[in-house]
Amino acid sequence: MLPTPEFDTSQRTELPMTPSASGLSRRAQWAGGQPISFLMHKALAHPELISLAAGFVDQRTLPVAATAEAVAEVLGDEEAGRVALQYGTTAGYEPLRELLLQRFLAADGVTAAETGLTVNRLLVTAGSNQLLHLVADTLLDPGDLVLCDAPSYFVFLGILQNLGARAVGVTVDELGVIPEALEEELERREAAGELERVKAIYVVSYFDNPRGVTLPVQRRRRIVEIARRWSKKQRIHVIDDTAYRQLRYCGEDVPSLRAFDEAGDTVIVAQTFSKSFSPGIRVGYGILPAHLVDPVLNQKGNLDFGSPNLSQHIIYNVLRSGRFDRHVARLRDSYREKLTAMLEAAERYMSPLDGVRWARPTGGLYVWLAVPESLDTGPDGPLFDQALAEGMIYVPGAYCYPAEGAPAAKNLIRLSFGVQTPENIRRGMQGLARAIQQVQ
Ligand SMILES: Cc1ncc(COP(=O)(O)O)c(C=O)c1O
Repeated sequence: MLPTPEFDTSQRTELPMTPSASGLSRRAQWAGGQPISFLMHKALAHPELISLAAGFVDQRTLPVAATAEAVAEVLGDEEAGRVALQYGTTAGYEPLRELLLQRFLAADGVTAAETGLTVNRLLVTAGSNQLLHLVADTLLDPGDLVLCDAPSYFVFLGILQNLGARAVGVTVDELGVIPEALEEELERREAAGELERVKAIYVVSYFDNPRGVTLPVQRRRRIVEIARRWSKKQRIHVIDDTAYRQLRYCGEDVPSLRAFDEAGDTVIVAQTFSKSFSPGIRVGYGILPAHLVDPVLNQKGNLDFGSPNLSQHIIYNVLRSGRFDRHVARLRDSYREKLTAMLEAAERYMSPLDGVRWARPTGGLYVWLAVPESLDTGPDGPLFDQALAEGMIYVPGAYCYPAEGAPAAKNLIRLSFGVQTPENIRRGMQGLARAIQQVQ
């Protein structure tokens, strides 16, 4: 059995500031204690568990045939194949960037002229996580603040911690981050003399991780407006993480926050093909305000001077050939069925239980579930081990809260319906319901 690393939430607040005896940098020390490794070890150590924890995409729907065709076409031509197997440029394969920009503009229902966007503002990265990391590294010094939803995407919270920056949680409701709460947090920081340390607002604006919430248009507009108005001495950027935009199972798409940034100097868009196509190919991209392009490219130049070129050629091929759009249509059908299985199982097994409530998202990979307030869902509470005993694992909601700001609720759970079959989703939900009943 694998040793299980402990996840110590106190590491988030107390960052070591002194050099370590082993010679590690402060950044290396700040990098530890991430919940993701704790959960992965638990799942790996108990392969028999039904994991409703991992936010992975469905293994069975990964596009093997479409990718094989794309690779054959990319490498089918000797000359073009050699180009794909060579290093590319730091910003990425230009035909791909052109195509990504066109598709982004079309999705937002705007033109290049209206937005002032050109291909120079679009940068291809190895997944959107790399873009988030590069942007955070470009904007943040140790001690700087980023306002995040409470709860938020915990890997991004880890990136901030790794840089010695501070994530501040802002209160959310069922529509996403509350603009008034954002404004109050900024007022508080100003009163505390910390406004100049606020460098960014981070939102996952479509079917967010962990709650599955999509920000309505009105709030998108307000968030951009608030960021601009509070950019008094230094600019407060809005990082719009759109990782789950394509995973919509009903209703109409809404424009990204970039559509409400008329001057184009505030919003940074992060997008990825990991959820909609394949995380193994690991292509993402960012759209940046003009003043950030060179600074972010400089960071990337030092990191890898260009993301894997073959991956970019594969993504270009699948987009141009229509394989990507056909795949996403099939993916939506498959995830819709799984989401339905999870919501039906919640109805069946959870509704008889007192004080258990859950959200009903229309996209993404997650369902956010609340148990009675007295019940701690964390690894030290009674439910986590009982759920393991019942054969399932979940993500404790407390992992998703920034260390400062709106306090972490202890009675929440993130459930993912991406990986498991509908039948396993039902069994996992039944196991969780039994565990709740036993510890209540
Ligand atoms: C909200 C969010 N953003 C970004 C990512 C990163 O994905 P990738 O780096 O594979 O593009 C994830 C992955 O789970 C995510 O949930």
